[in-house]
Amino acid sequence: AIERTFSIIKPDAVAKNHIGAIYNRFETAGLKIVAAKMLHLTKEQAEGFYAEHSERGFFGALVEFMTSGPIMVQVLEGENAVLAHRDILGATNPADAAPGTIRADFAESIDENAAHGSDAVESAAREIAYFFSADELCPRTR
Ligand code: CMP
Repeated sequence: AIERTFSIIKPDAVAKNHIGAIYNRFETAGLKIVAAKMLHLTKEQAEGFYAEHSERGFFGALVEFMTSGPIMVQVLEGENAVLAHRDILGATNPADAAPGTIRADFAESIDENAAHGSDAVESAAREIAYFFSADELCPRTR
């Protein structure tokens, strides 16, 4: 089925000028960008987005990192988009990511892992709504 998923290019990858290279991976995989913008998250925005991890030991470092510089947020649309996106991202820990995946090629560590992707259709809907209003999503008819 055609799905939408949510993507973040994280501060490390933006700082290293990898936005275009990562967009190329999305488009080559058949995922269409239907919304996108650059943001520099506040502490409150980062804490809210990652609220499900608030009890984890890495939460403080995660919020610190995600507010350390600008990010790109995107909505990607395509066949089986949630899984297709996670496949091209590779494992959360770049040390475990398959060769040729975004995290294998652009990330240094599990903390600074270049990109985020929703893990399910339900979380995608919630994450998209966290950053985008309905009128910011552009239907792709061709
Ligand atoms: P992300 O998909 O953005 O969701 C939460 C982030 O926490 C994750 O990617 C990692 O960058 C970061 N993180 C740091 N340590 C861990 C860990 N042990 N397990 C999962 N995520 C971690």
